[in-house]
Amino acid sequence: MNKILGIAGSLRRESFNRAVLNTLAEGREIEIFDISSIPLYNADQDGEHPPDPVRKFKDAIAASAGLLVVSPEYNYGIPGVLKNALDWASRPGYQSVLKGKKVAIITCSMATTGGARAQASIRECFYACLAEVVPYPEVAIPTVHTKVENGRLTDAKSLELAEGLIKTLQ
Ligand SMILES: Cc1cc2nc3c(=O)[nH]c(=O)nc-3n(C[C@H](O)[C@H](O)[C@H](O)COP(=O)(O)O)c2cc1C
Repeated sequence: MNKILGIAGSLRRESFNRAVLNTLAEGREIEIFDISSIPLYNADQDGEHPPDPVRKFKDAIAASAGLLVVSPEYNYGIPGVLKNALDWASRPGYQSVLKGKKVAIITCSMATTGGARAQASIRECFYACLAEVVPYPEVAIPTVHTKVENGRLTDAKSLELAEGLIKTLQ
């Protein structure tokens, strides 16, 4: 089976979301794609020969069995860096590498809300791309800063929920 492609919605070095993604990728067929090199979307540069990082991103999505997105919430919604990467991946509209792609989403926040509002906006973005968003289980990890130690997710309940979600991609 093809690998799952993991995408973190934060570029921060000490990102809790990336720590959660790294933990979940351990011992699994999950390859992590770093979206930090993807430039700002510009339709003038889009088309058959997009910038190299974009081409690599789209190729990795196309080759994957599904996506695992782990993201924070920024101002009640999807972080700009993640939206930007997905905007590139979404072209050509309705016929992109995201069409029909299975997508599992986890949000993590230091707040008690667990990034639930970002979860909704990330789902909406994937729906616009005709991706197959896994509807259940919905995994939002609140107070994530108390559940990550030394760059690893250690909370048993969160791990159990996330594992249940990953199973839907396999
Ligand atoms: C620009 C910005 C906006 C934020 N907005 C929210 C928000 O709406 N809801 C929330 O729960 N946390 C919000 N936060 C806090 C983030 O959840 C927190 O910084 C988190 O640790 C970011 O994820 P990371 O650790 O993976 O980088 C915001 C942080 C930033 C930098």
